[in-house]
Amino acid sequence: MSSFKIAVFLSGNGSNLQSLIDTKKINNDHSLNISVVFSNNKNALGIKRAKENNIPFFTLDPKKFNSREAFDEAIIDKLKDFDFDLLVLAGYMRILSEKFVKTYEDKIINLHPSLLPKYPGLNTHEKIIENKEIHHGATVHFVDSGLDTGQIIGYSKFEVNDYDLTSLEQKVHEIEHKLLPLICSLIKNDEIKFIDKILTINGLEYSNGKEYIF
Ligand code: GRF
Repeated sequence: MSSFKIAVFLSGNGSNLQSLIDTKKINNDHSLNISVVFSNNKNALGIKRAKENNIPFFTLDPKKFNSREAFDEAIIDKLKDFDFDLLVLAGYMRILSEKFVKTYEDKIINLHPSLLPKYPGLNTHEKIIENKEIHHGATVHFVDSGLDTGQIIGYSKFEVNDYDLTSLEQKVHEIEHKLLPLICSLIKNDEIKFIDKILTINGLEYSNGKEYIF
């Protein structure tokens, strides 16, 4: 069986890239490969992680382009050198142009640190604290041209006991490090399908995504 290949986009730390690498190692899974890592930030720790694990990578500096469209066009061009079945946004802190989303329609997933549709965008942990939310968590969704609005695939939540930024961040990361590898592997195994904008998981339709309890 030929391996399922993923491209990972990131902007910083890359702990979620690491979780994909580690899960693959732990499961000795040769059927899933990270074929390329891209970052808009050449100093991202995630790029160092890619290097250390012999994963091909490239970076482009958005400041060198006149528009979002031109930047994304250059990424599309570079991506032609790599083969991938799924593009994973794991801490990629840029909004994608419509053209980019269309080019890889229904092949891009994003990891978001909140229980969508609540709290799209930035500073989700701060908003949880501000609004004294009872639950927090992480969501993986397909990417459409809106901000964190695409079809929700899966999410995992926890009860907030401590309204503290560092501890919320840490708890969300813990969840993400399980949720993202799991969803990638379910997509790889064709257990998650997204056909004609209908999400099915093991044959059942989930219009609001599926909850995963870890
Ligand atoms: C994660 O919390 C993810 O949900 C958000 O950015 C963060 C990236 O973390 N989109 P890392 O770079 O993978 O450590």
